[in-house]
Amino acid sequence: MTALSAVEAHPALSSTTAYETALAQLREASRAYYGGENSPMDDASYDALRRAVLAWEAAHPHTTAGSTTGLVADGAAGGDIPHTTRLLSLDNVFSPEQLSGWEASLKRRLGRDAEGGFTVEPKLDGAAVAARYRDGRLAQIITRGDGTHGEDVSHVIGSVHGLPEQLDRPLTFEARGEILFTQAQFDTANEVRTAHGAPPFANPRNGAAGTLRAKDRPYRLELTFWAYGAVDLDDESFLPVGASHAEVLAAVGEAGVQTTARTPAGLHVVSTIAEAQAKVEEIAAMRAGLPFGIDGVVIKADSATDQGAAGVGSRFPYWAIAYKLPAVERQTVLTDVVWEVGRTGVLAPTAVLAPVDLDGSTVSRATLHNPADITRRGLHLGDTVTVYKAGDIIPRVQAPVIELRPQGAVPVPLPTECPHCGGEIDFPVKSVCSDWLNLCAPVSITQCH
Ligand code: IVH
Repeated sequence: MTALSAVEAHPALSSTTAYETALAQLREASRAYYGGENSPMDDASYDALRRAVLAWEAAHPHTTAGSTTGLVADGAAGGDIPHTTRLLSLDNVFSPEQLSGWEASLKRRLGRDAEGGFTVEPKLDGAAVAARYRDGRLAQIITRGDGTHGEDVSHVIGSVHGLPEQLDRPLTFEARGEILFTQAQFDTANEVRTAHGAPPFANPRNGAAGTLRAKDRPYRLELTFWAYGAVDLDDESFLPVGASHAEVLAAVGEAGVQTTARTPAGLHVVSTIAEAQAKVEEIAAMRAGLPFGIDGVVIKADSATDQGAAGVGSRFPYWAIAYKLPAVERQTVLTDVVWEVGRTGVLAPTAVLAPVDLDGSTVSRATLHNPADITRRGLHLGDTVTVYKAGDIIPRVQAPVIELRPQGAVPVPLPTECPHCGGEIDFPVKSVCSDWLNLCAPVSITQCH
């Protein structure tokens, strides 16, 4: 499990000016991240810069009065709808040793072992929301914002798989969880956007945050929700008294709302942190095959008593921790596209990229599948693109970051003749069932005959 402890390095900050510049960059990246714009920095670069800022703050406590590192979203997100109780973030660990360190600090807070054991579930890479059900009807969806106030994004009600508009029972409660595009929903979303002349989303998480904020699009995009928690609403008691985390999610699931327990990665209840670590590794190994992005695994003290006794800090609860997995997406530059002819005569484009470190290896080439994939993604030579690689799968180009497109960039040219034999090229259209949600998309392939 060496890959799990791989952490991106960032040079130490050398001056107050460098520190202040870094803080501004973090805040700008957070503003874009939570606002659904394409971020100027990928997650690995953000995490590395944040670690450098925290190291500077630890070494120079007197220079950090203006620091925003203690604020949710670096103080960049907000909204006007008050949350019932604060929506918290999570502290991170990156290795088995750090996970054991977290358990030790939990024990210190409790003065004993966690009596109810731990839950282990995927950390979904989407946008956090609170979904309010009143008398069984989905009344309102609110973004996390700064944790105390969020934005009303109820316009997506009806397009979110897993968040039914109407429950079977007249229940009142607030489900909390993550809204995201599955990979299949993301591909469809970018096709719809390109067809409407809109720029493609750079990645699923960005697209989800942007879709929540965009209230007047001429098209609707399907999203998916998974709950990872719930709270009572309007003084109605929905949650069983003293319910554990697993019991809370069971109640939400029985109400008809999708929870992390329903993801292929599941929700696991274990007794020891060693068992939790083993589950982290199992979920990490499933990552490449999951139909949606995860950026970690979340470990929580299961019992309500343990949670209450451990308490919460200004940004995150002390009873839960995110075990971050290495970044599987980076941004880099598409320098060229080369074409190869496969055994069946199919022309396969390969992206040539400025080398970038990704999930333990240096990536300089990535698959582009077929010509339709290039036009659908609107790729230009010289584009900064998002590249995705998880586990052993071949890296793939996801989308261009339109904001970073150089002036005068031209669309990737498609071959007019077979690069192997110089012959003509066919454009047959083949119907392929492309995903787990059973959406079928026509995919055109180019063939050398
Ligand atoms: S629990 C009180 N569980 O990750 C505990 N969060 O980086 C609050 N997230 O703000 C969060 N999957 O938006 C929790 N299974 C999961 C999660 C999860 C994704 C998000 C959440 C949180 C962020 C922190």
